[in-house]
Amino acid sequence: EGRKSMDLTVNRGSHSISVDPEKPLLWVLREDLHLPGTKFGCGAGLCGACTVLLDGQPVRSCQTPVGAVGEATITTIEDVTSQPAGPHVVAAWEDLDVPQCGYCQAGQIMTATWLLEQMPDPQDEDIDAVMSGNICRCSTYLRIREAIRQAAK
Ligand code: FES
Repeated sequence: EGRKSMDLTVNRGSHSISVDPEKPLLWVLREDLHLPGTKFGCGAGLCGACTVLLDGQPVRSCQTPVGAVGEATITTIEDVTSQPAGPHVVAAWEDLDVPQCGYCQAGQIMTATWLLEQMPDPQDEDIDAVMSGNICRCSTYLRIREAIRQAAK
């Protein structure tokens, strides 16, 4: 009950689904669209693990009802390399072996990609200000910062 048909644009493809518009985008991505890269961390908008891009802007998909997405274009970690900075970010992440447990890293990469679209040459304080919303329980913060600086080159 309460399901609605909608068309979502995800990772450059169109998907027709029938879901409750209140369902968080996170769960639509994971369950209905079988894109498991976006992670459930806190479910409360606090950790950033669920970050995806909506028309290029980072949003917390656990806090975004799918019914609010409308025509916006959704980009998840599975297609982050479609963003101009995406390939550089992924390459730097691999090069510097950023992840430890890895759980938060999809969200970190989405936010970092957005950051580099805004600021091609971010300073440490810019990086810290933007990335502070993405929590890493393994404290990979220094490697994240280094990877962003490398990706900016
Ligand atoms: Fe969405 Fe933590 S799972 S912010």
